[in-house]
Amino acid sequence: MLGRLLSDVLRQLTAEKRTSPRPEAQLPGENPLAEYFFNNPGRLIHKWHHYFDIYHRHFARFRGRSPVVVEIGVFHGGSLQMWHHYFGPGTRVVGIDIDPRCRSFEDEATTILIGDQGDRRFLAEVRGRVPHIDILIDDGGHAMAQQIATFEELYPHVQPDGIYLCEDIHTSFMPEFGGGHRREGTFLEYGKALVDRLYGWYSRDHTVLTADEFTRATYALHFYDSVLVIEKSPKAPPQTSLTGTPSF
Ligand SMILES: C[S@@+](CC[C@H](N)C(=O)[O-])C[C@H]1O[C@@H](n2cnc3c(N)ncnc32)[C@H](O)[C@@H]1O
Repeated sequence: MLGRLLSDVLRQLTAEKRTSPRPEAQLPGENPLAEYFFNNPGRLIHKWHHYFDIYHRHFARFRGRSPVVVEIGVFHGGSLQMWHHYFGPGTRVVGIDIDPRCRSFEDEATTILIGDQGDRRFLAEVRGRVPHIDILIDDGGHAMAQQIATFEELYPHVQPDGIYLCEDIHTSFMPEFGGGHRREGTFLEYGKALVDRLYGWYSRDHTVLTADEFTRATYALHFYDSVLVIEKSPKAPPQTSLTGTPSF
């Protein structure tokens, strides 16, 4: 009886290990952001636990390099403190929120801009006020029109080797955010169309799909549970070659 119980537990544990690609990165102590969050010494932060692995995977190369990090959605200001702690001295964090109370989180290393991320005129002002962005995190209102306007206005403005990360994109399934399964106009459907644009080079009908600015500026799209990460890197038209000696 006990033997069977033990072998059931073991089977369950090894099955979990097999289905989780990087279980170790979830553990506080192995991921500095998770470590900070679960021992939070600062203001309130609201994050899904599985986001820490994604952040660390894409943000680690900016640590200690004084990046400019923009987060839309300030809430109680705790995540601004977490980004400073993670990226280190010299980092500039820009928090954007519609709630004017967030101004109180401004300090010498933190800029706060108040406005509506769904308002393209405000986003144009953001481009003027923040001329250099290495990382942009969209954790604001999570409504479809907000996520799409923010991407269209700010993605081209992110540095050529920067990262654009939009979180909570599961709202694309929620009618209260303008979502719905496969519904036209959701951020998830918009993101799926970006996959086509990544392959614009290979289009056979350039009237419907062609290599555009997005194709030339984007290295990879990473779709995770609830998070889309877009990695920028200037791309030249792809080349192919045959090398070596023929066998037949
Ligand atoms: C999920 S909270 C942000 C959580 C925070 N990033 C954290 O990790 O603790 C969402 C924030 O987005 C702000 N927000 C909602 N709609 C917005 C909009 N249209 N433009 C800018 N900010 C908005 C809210 O005021 C709220 O502070």
